[in-house]
Amino acid sequence: MRTIGVLTSGGDAPGMNAAIRAVVRMGIHKGLRVMGIQRGYNGLINGEIYDMNRATVSDIIQRGGTILKTARSEEFRTEEGRKKAYNVLKVFGIEGLVVIGGDGSFTGAQKLSQEFGLKTIGIPGTIDNDLAYTDYTIGFDTAQNTVLDAINKLRDTSTSHERVSIVEVMGRRCGDIALYTGLAGGSESIIIPEEDYNFDELCKTIIEGKVRGKLHNLILLAEGVGGAEEMAKKIQDVTGIDTRATVLGHIQRGGSPSAFDRVLASRLGARAVELLCEGKSQRVVGIKDNKIVDIDINEALAMKRESNRELYELAKILSY
Ligand code: F6P
Repeated sequence: MRTIGVLTSGGDAPGMNAAIRAVVRMGIHKGLRVMGIQRGYNGLINGEIYDMNRATVSDIIQRGGTILKTARSEEFRTEEGRKKAYNVLKVFGIEGLVVIGGDGSFTGAQKLSQEFGLKTIGIPGTIDNDLAYTDYTIGFDTAQNTVLDAINKLRDTSTSHERVSIVEVMGRRCGDIALYTGLAGGSESIIIPEEDYNFDELCKTIIEGKVRGKLHNLILLAEGVGGAEEMAKKIQDVTGIDTRATVLGHIQRGGSPSAFDRVLASRLGARAVELLCEGKSQRVVGIKDNKIVDIDINEALAMKRESNRELYELAKILSY
């Protein structure tokens, strides 16, 4: 293997830059030529590719977003689009591809390998933490800290007004951001797609809390359940307590990556290159019990994710 490419795809996540840096610098360390592909699979189809070196990735480890830009490519979903992409890879002499993104991005890598025999390795980069084969994805830790910062501020105003505050956080169908920040932020309730919830019970908890002297009530709601505004109105109607909804949105995707995300991204980026050098393909890297692991991409995509029940139950006990 002489030349490898790296791209970021799907929603950006803090720490993607640290992963790009690790891929480039480990690649150069191994004697490879490393090419950066801009705008995900769209940029690959359009040949938006440039040579990277140690200097092109300096001063980026602390930056959020991705210097390579990212996109969700409709064209790449078609066979014709993928053929174009593969032809571009051939023109640039790219023999191995590192894809940083979520499950949709991994599916793209899997198709390039299966249809054209290209060597691919996936690195999990998404704030959602929704990939079953890895304990953590790059960006999840930073997103949690961003949410916690917002929760701390909301607590101030909710306490002053003695209100209920519903905070809707991202995660697509996965409730991890809500679950972890609900626990870490000392919320009264956590509503996630993986666990059933009962609206009457929720209102009862709010009223009981008020009677016990709670000055505010914080509810973490995952976007996979959604409807924060509507829920706030219903809670106010039933409990008679002033209720406000806050949808945190894309603020959760930005910001300087945490130390955890930088270290994770550096380890995963480096390992991805090593795997390509070992001749491996169609694998994704991840972290299990603080050890860097890699598994077959098909296996990874087929794995069903389970929510952390233990944390959910613990948060319930501690919220009382
Ligand atoms: O996958 C990351 C994510 O931020 C999800 O949590 C969210 O549902 C989605 O992307 C938002 O996508 P977009 O940036 O296209 O609005």
